[in-house]
Amino acid sequence: MNLVQIDEVAQSIIKQAGERIKASLHTQMTITEKSSPSDLVTNIDMETEQFFVSQVNQHFPTHRLLGEEGFGDTITDWDGYVWIVDPIDGTTNFINQQRNFCITVGIYKEGIGELGYIYQVMTGEMISATKGQGAFQNGKQLPKLATTQFEDSLIGVNASWVAPNRHIDHTKVAELVKRVRGTRSYGSAALEISYVVTGRLDAYFSMRLSAWDVAGGMVIAEEVGAICGTLGGGPFDLLKNQPFIIANPALFDEIITYYLTPQTT
Ligand code: IPD
Ligand code: CA
Ligand code: CA
Repeated sequence: MNLVQIDEVAQSIIKQAGERIKASLHTQMTITEKSSPSDLVTNIDMETEQFFVSQVNQHFPTHRLLGEEGFGDTITDWDGYVWIVDPIDGTTNFINQQRNFCITVGIYKEGIGELGYIYQVMTGEMISATKGQGAFQNGKQLPKLATTQFEDSLIGVNASWVAPNRHIDHTKVAELVKRVRGTRSYGSAALEISYVVTGRLDAYFSMRLSAWDVAGGMVIAEEVGAICGTLGGGPFDLLKNQPFIIANPALFDEIITYYLTPQTT
């Protein structure tokens, strides 16, 4: 199958998964704690990931899948095609609000992102991209990001990073918060990344993200000229849980060098 055909099947699987999630809103869900009382998973997260595993096995038996809930493969190398899947990004929103959550998928070949998707289930907004071919919002091409300035910008930032924390100097983040036009926090990394690539936000950062949160978004970002990285500005490593920053190119360097300084104590 060529990339156009893989894209078609991937979008169909994602939309079917979205329909299943919507149908599940009328059923009793089971909520389980993972690492802490605020780190939750539902039976729907798990069933959605299992749906992806069975669909990918059926359509692409040679492809592997890395999923948040662990139903896919154990990935230690990037040989061949790997689907990186977050079946529900924003599980807390899914549980508490029944909105503001996404399915996000990155399809990587030999470690290079070829296809990326962020699907906002309740609105039906599909942001997609094919490497080198552009990014799309429900099939309509997205423009490259326009330049911006701090004073005009909206930044996606969770209050955790403006309070003392062990990752970054929160006083610098507070300076950034005062300098920009405003801040927003939506509770789904993929949703916030989708807002940066569409120009609704000008930057978003979080200190503890994993491959499944960002893999799809990174493919889309490249197509609109948004810059992604980790603290210090280097590339985000998909095999680690680490800080992630996405920003308009006019803001990225200064955010990295001045406002996101790693904690030294
Ligand atoms: C979480 C969300 C949240 C971010 C967390 C992620 P999940 O993903 O994206 O916004 O702050 O770090 O783990 O658990 O809802 O898939
Ligand atoms: Ca996630
Ligand atoms: Ca998830």
